[in-house]
Amino acid sequence: MEPKTFNTKKTEKSTNIWLTPRSLLDRLGHFDLDPCAATVRPWDIADVNYTEEDNGLIQEWFGRVWCNPPYGSEAYPFLKKFSEYGGPGLMLLFTRTDIKAWHEYIFPTAKYIFFIKGRIKFCRPDGSQEATANAASCLLAWDKSELPLLLQLEKEGLGKLAMFV
Ligand SMILES: C[S@@+](CC[C@H](N)C(=O)[O-])C[C@H]1O[C@@H](n2cnc3c(N)ncnc32)[C@H](O)[C@@H]1O
Repeated sequence: MEPKTFNTKKTEKSTNIWLTPRSLLDRLGHFDLDPCAATVRPWDIADVNYTEEDNGLIQEWFGRVWCNPPYGSEAYPFLKKFSEYGGPGLMLLFTRTDIKAWHEYIFPTAKYIFFIKGRIKFCRPDGSQEATANAASCLLAWDKSELPLLLQLEKEGLGKLAMFV
């Protein structure tokens, strides 16, 4: 049986890959680029989708970006790249504010943190078998064009928006 928790060991049968649920994506609008798309995926999140084989970290980022990076320390280079990009789009991350990367790449540069209420149920590459995350999640944004959407999400009760001045 497939394990239903996060950070499980990678085996042939358990990939440890968890995807953003369609129910959340559908509330976030159109994206031009997903720089860390799953190789096997139930849907395209953006018009252009870079997989591990393309290595989204060495590609040029453009337009409105969706970034739900790989977990653990593999997320940090994506976080650094988004903070340097600073353009439109959203990053989905576990809300672990004690981590050094938060203090290096988020707090000095991000404009918005949207704290999602409740735990996200992530998906398997076939779009099924949702598993509840073992931490809170947030949406990060660096560009002010994301403000209307984040305010709308707050109004709809998805969570709480924090803005940096
Ligand atoms: C947490 S999953 C999220 C997938 C998708 N972005 C989403 O929101 O559903 C992270 C994905 O990043 C991919 N990945 C890991 N390193 C990558 C890299 N250097 N370039 C592009 N994709 C990468 C993994 O294969 C994995 O599918």
